[in-house]
Amino acid sequence: MILITGGTGYIGSHTAVKLIEQNEDIIILDNLYNSKSEVIDSIETITGKRPKFYQTDLLDINGLEQIFKENKIDCVIHFAGLKAVGESVAQPLKYFNNNITGTINLLMAMQKYNCKKIIFSSSATVYGTTQIMPLTENSPLGVTNPYGRTKLVIEDMLKDLANADNEFCIILLRYFNPIGANQSNLIGENPNGIPNNLMPYICKVAKGELPELNVFGNDYDTVDGTGVRDYIHVEDLAIGHVKAYNKIKSNNGLHIYNLGTGNGYSVLQVISSFEKANNIKINYNIAPRRTGDVATVYADTKKAEVELDFKAKYGIEEMCRDSWNFYRNI
Ligand code: WQD
Repeated sequence: MILITGGTGYIGSHTAVKLIEQNEDIIILDNLYNSKSEVIDSIETITGKRPKFYQTDLLDINGLEQIFKENKIDCVIHFAGLKAVGESVAQPLKYFNNNITGTINLLMAMQKYNCKKIIFSSSATVYGTTQIMPLTENSPLGVTNPYGRTKLVIEDMLKDLANADNEFCIILLRYFNPIGANQSNLIGENPNGIPNNLMPYICKVAKGELPELNVFGNDYDTVDGTGVRDYIHVEDLAIGHVKAYNKIKSNNGLHIYNLGTGNGYSVLQVISSFEKANNIKINYNIAPRRTGDVATVYADTKKAEVELDFKAKYGIEEMCRDSWNFYRNI
């Protein structure tokens, strides 16, 4: 049985679908802070199977233990966590408590019930402001905000756990920039409020919910002066988790993988790809740089290709098409 924490969230729900499609037994835990229980209905509609769902918070130790008491959990895929960079700067303690204490509670429950396999949703943000591209799993690590710090602290806790108990199998997946949606248009990215991230903001402009996109700076040392990132289709990212699960079933130790495409696209290139894929004009203005942003981030993907047999297959226009097809219908 696989426990997916944060399984009604954007990446968690897409991963749940792919695991069910591989005939895995999954359970979803989510506190619904940043998602809706209707996602369970959508997963059932897409796959024909309704996963068991617990509306539980990782800070509720009794509620968490109940899940391990009632189910034989062999592996945890841990997505649950707050992830708004700006909010983490304003409320660091909220992020430390929710993300780090929540993870400690989860690991204690796993230890108590002898569950020793975990795949952790980490992020390219742990590479900090490293400038040498492409980023490999051995690139220097750093912290640029409290959210990123929680990811790095959790990675370090998992490394210590793997060193202390060689029965643990731990996989850290460092995501680059996930966008897109499942082709059913039933699940996708729908953050509450004004989006921090580029694609949900573009979708709101496309739908007329926001007047224009603010492009944060066009004076970076990049192809057109705007920020370059490694966008990866969330369907590819979900498949990356299935590949990691297939590896964790028969391995021990700790393994780290970048999940990206190895290609970088600038903000203006994303805008023109979105306009071309969806035949929609996106209004934008050039605004000042955003604090904490770096010019260019993209992944070296060789390790995941060799060790996980993982390679992203969707291109930027398909990502733009699928993001919009989901968002236009909600
Ligand atoms: C992408 C590019 C912006 C919004 C963050 C987190 C990272 C991960 C992914 C969770 C940059 C530009 C954006 C806008 C813009 N999240 N931009 N106008 O910052 O690369 O990564 O999200 O794991 O941890 O750090 O993603 O989508 O915010 O920005 O010009 O309104 O788009 O400057 O160049 P980012 P993003």
